[in-house]
Amino acid sequence: MKKDLKEKCPIIEFNDLGDERGKLVVIEGNESIPFEIKRVFYIYGSDASVVRGQHANRESQFVLINVAGTSKVRVTDGKQEAIIELNRPMMGVYIPQMIWKDMYDFSEDSVLLVLASTHYDGKEYIRDYDEYMKEVCRS
Ligand code: TYD
Repeated sequence: MKKDLKEKCPIIEFNDLGDERGKLVVIEGNESIPFEIKRVFYIYGSDASVVRGQHANRESQFVLINVAGTSKVRVTDGKQEAIIELNRPMMGVYIPQMIWKDMYDFSEDSVLLVLASTHYDGKEYIRDYDEYMKEVCRS
């Protein structure tokens, strides 16, 4: 049976190793997330009216975490759509290959951390929604 979008893009809850000194969240590749981490980037200073992402990736898998502030990510597999609010440093969302994603509604203090399974290669990005829909409908 084909996977539901929520199963394809699960929310990941990280363990809190904090104590009276403060919180501590540890993320290890192939442990709490299902891939080896090859790249880390973070997005901040995007205001509430900005929509980022607007692409799908043929190769890369991602985990998105708002380590500060909040944002939303809208995901679609071409059939279903889901909106995930990233509002805690202890949660992330896993986004596999060939999922179209838009990140938006950034709070002023938003720092969106992205863990990726690949080094950057612009050629594996699909940035045209019609082209994306053609590709997912074929598969
Ligand atoms: P872009 O993919 O548009 O960012 P987002 O998905 O967050 O909206 O990337 C903006 C620019 O940065 C674009 O020219 C590609 C470049 N870039 C890299 O060189 N390496 C990277 O790992 C990323 C994510 C982007």
